[in-house]
Amino acid sequence: MTTQFACAGIELELYRYPTQQASNLQAWDAADEHLIKHLIDSQQPVVPTAILNDSFGALTCALTTVNNQWPITLETDAKTSLLGCQYNLQHNHLTPESLQIINSREAIPCNTQLVLMKLPKNLHYFGQQLARLSTILPAGTAVLISAKAKSINAALLSLIDKNLGPSSASLAWKNTRVISCISDGNARTIAAPVNWKVNELGLTISNLANVFAANKLDIGARIMLDNMPKGDFTHVVDLGCGNGILGLHAKQCYPQAQIHFVDDSDMAIASAKHNWQHNKLGSPDNAPHGHFYWDDCLTNLPDDISPDLVLCNPPFHQGEAITDHIAWQMFVDAYKRLKTGGILHVVGNRHLAYHVKIKRIFNNCTTIASNGKFVILQAKK
Ligand SMILES: C[S@@+](CC[C@H](N)C(=O)[O-])C[C@H]1O[C@@H](n2cnc3c(N)ncnc32)[C@H](O)[C@@H]1O
Repeated sequence: MTTQFACAGIELELYRYPTQQASNLQAWDAADEHLIKHLIDSQQPVVPTAILNDSFGALTCALTTVNNQWPITLETDAKTSLLGCQYNLQHNHLTPESLQIINSREAIPCNTQLVLMKLPKNLHYFGQQLARLSTILPAGTAVLISAKAKSINAALLSLIDKNLGPSSASLAWKNTRVISCISDGNARTIAAPVNWKVNELGLTISNLANVFAANKLDIGARIMLDNMPKGDFTHVVDLGCGNGILGLHAKQCYPQAQIHFVDDSDMAIASAKHNWQHNKLGSPDNAPHGHFYWDDCLTNLPDDISPDLVLCNPPFHQGEAITDHIAWQMFVDAYKRLKTGGILHVVGNRHLAYHVKIKRIFNNCTTIASNGKFVILQAKK
């Protein structure tokens, strides 16, 4: 991993999170550099600043390097981004005196005078972020959005105009541009969560803006739902739960089980919790059979939980980057935490060849079902 960051006179050593990644990916990109260069070149004064979608803390670390009293609110939906930022601040001996961290559903402070954003991959989420900002920012507040030049087009600028205020893009530098938007002070209506039904299971699913499979059931999840393992499971983990569809159906299949929902996305965990409550899957005695963790894989699953089943539809990208390290970490964590005899039940695109990894970790792997595109794999600890 390339780690030496040098831009506009700021030097840092920055790591992705987790720091051990067998990849040539790095913790920042040219769009981060462009935004930092823009702030330094324009001699941006120190004002209360909100930073949204800072991948692994490059923007937060850079502002803190300029002035460790810079008042920063860091908003993140991804737990790994938050952990990466905290790691990089500490690693670079940076001690911001005024750093507030909030998740993607909390409001940024109303005294915010500058907003810095990286363009997220999910444009529906981006539109929702802008609409949320419109409810807080007074007219005239500057919002700087940096992105790859190829992602910036008339439709994107009109999305910004529609949800926050007029905008214009800078000249390109290293194939990136900084979009300057001035909020117009008119509060927009924030889009409601998207709802759909899985009729044959009697479930209604509601998704906040940054949740995987926002508009319909994922085809990988569909084949999982049709092939749930048989058994009297007592502790089931839905690892990378998204809206919680696999864990919700697990509760229908194994009524006595405690279900543990884990996801890196705060909005995913909030949606899974809402879906659990709305579909009335709690136990009749009101015991808390649903448990929800905003976390990086199984890092903080309580020590006394030894699952006997882990259900997993792993991601194959982290932000913009295509990578299999999260799937690896999910399988390794599942192996560590499963009780002896416990089962890992995984769905994946056939071409991802998860069976090779799973076999290496568990020493066994069986194909349970497959179609042209997907395969369901199972391994026993
Ligand atoms: C392919 S989606 C599956 C969602 C859902 N289980 C389904 O089947 O529709 C993968 C999920 O993994 C989550 N994820 C990504 N990185 C993660 C990590 N490090 N720890 C936990 N969850 C993660 C993503 O936010 C996403 O919700």
